[in-house]
Amino acid sequence: MAQSSNVKPRIHIQEVGTRDGFQSEPRFIPTADKIRLIDALSLCGLSKIEVTSFTSPKAILALADADEVLRGIKRQPGVVYTSLVPNLKGAERAIAAGTDELNLTISTSETHNLLNLRMTREQSVARLFEVVDLAKATGVTLNVSLSTCFGCPMEGPIPEAVVLGFAERFLNRGVEGISLCDTTGMAHPDRVRQLCGAFRARFPQAQLTLHLHNTRGMGLVNALAGIEAGVDRFDASLGGIGGCPYAPGATGNVCTEDLVHMLQALGHPMDVDLPRLLAAARSLPELLGHDVPGQVMHAGRAQDLHPIPGSLEAIRERALGSTSNPG
Ligand code: COA
Ligand code: ZN
Repeated sequence: MAQSSNVKPRIHIQEVGTRDGFQSEPRFIPTADKIRLIDALSLCGLSKIEVTSFTSPKAILALADADEVLRGIKRQPGVVYTSLVPNLKGAERAIAAGTDELNLTISTSETHNLLNLRMTREQSVARLFEVVDLAKATGVTLNVSLSTCFGCPMEGPIPEAVVLGFAERFLNRGVEGISLCDTTGMAHPDRVRQLCGAFRARFPQAQLTLHLHNTRGMGLVNALAGIEAGVDRFDASLGGIGGCPYAPGATGNVCTEDLVHMLQALGHPMDVDLPRLLAAARSLPELLGHDVPGQVMHAGRAQDLHPIPGSLEAIRERALGSTSNPG
């Protein structure tokens, strides 16, 4: 369903920095700091926040405090608090800690699934179907993130039929949302338009999220291609941090505040408070102990003009003097 009128669609922004971003940070971020950042993000008008992941602490040590973080945050009405889970144990922990949504993860690449989740894709499907059945009995909503949809760094392109086939199996089982994930930034705009358009045509009722990484500098242009194909929900990470520790060459997500800055400039209605988001992004370098890729946080918004230097009048006078008296 391509956009045909001039009315720009409302876009929903889903923050994943405290999960996709923090999961690969080498330094453990103290639990209280994670909670403080999520509480600040909760006031930014985001539709969803992926708070953490309930994975094995042996696999993702950086998020070993998932239970305390989810229990410790101050929730704001209107924000959906979601948690990534790979298996039933993770789902039980996330539900006990009060998650609104479970974000189940499986890779569309067999190789990446084995590396990331230590099981075949079919084993993952079987385990995640158990999670779906559990969730249906408890009332939490369900999203499935399909990794490497736009290409696997080890296998190469993943056929569209494979991606849509996994989406269909989960949607038929009762999952509300699907995220098409470009785990290592292998997508380009034509591919995004093709896959998202095909998804929209086949599953018009499903909630579709596009999860982009900016690994090769195409994050924002891919987001625009997604909007052309009918996408109105994006995962993004504050400061552009992120990357899957089990995917070679993975780097950060499309940057939340850069994406919002672009979409607001283009006139897309959205509820996000960009100045608040920028303030949160600017707290990241100190929190993480290193700089982050976000650009608007460094450059300022395009409309934030710099003061005119006091020397301008003298420059103008000299310039006018030289043009009126060229000899
Ligand atoms: N939460 C906490 N502990 C968990 C767990 C979960 N969700 N799932 C498994 N465990 C524990 C088990 O209890 C077991 O502990 P023990 O050794 O003390 O008995 C141990 O982890 C191994 O369990 P097993 O079922 O054999 O898992 P595994 O070693 O095959 O790992 C996953 C499978 C899926 C749990 C693990 O690979 C994982 O958590 N991966 C997450 C990857 C990820 O998030 N990647 C980035 C996002 S795409
Ligand atoms: Zn990701």
